[in-house]
Amino acid sequence: MVQVGYTKKVMDHFMNPRNVGVIEDRDGYGKVGNPVCGDVMEIFIKVNDDVITDIKFRTFGCGSAIATSSMVTELATGMNVDEALKITRNDVANELDGLPPLKMHCSNLAADALHEAIKDYKNQDGNVDGQENESSSIPKSNEKECV
Ligand code: FES
Repeated sequence: MVQVGYTKKVMDHFMNPRNVGVIEDRDGYGKVGNPVCGDVMEIFIKVNDDVITDIKFRTFGCGSAIATSSMVTELATGMNVDEALKITRNDVANELDGLPPLKMHCSNLAADALHEAIKDYKNQDGNVDGQENESSSIPKSNEKECV
């Protein structure tokens, strides 16, 4: 098993993740999966005047995926959607004081799920009826590896 070192912030967000849950009357919804490890992340956003006023996530994945999900929700809260679209995996990792190189790819899920939720909002297709099908095809993160 590969040993990796995590920062205190990563451990804190993994052990005490912020903004876990769903928003039933969401304005945007994003879901991405890593095709290699099978980890899946969902992000729900509420938007008012193009500002993200509330955000929740559900992540089925590794500790880094959970920590980066938690951090991306903190970064995006209160942000204009166009600014939030510019959040990168490096931004997320930097806010966590870094991720081990072997786990950097995990932060792609967080940034990608947020971007998908914003695109959904911009498309005015917020799936407010809650009809997402869990078995429907999941957009894939652009990641090719997962360890
Ligand atoms: S996202 Fe799959 S191991 Fe981290």
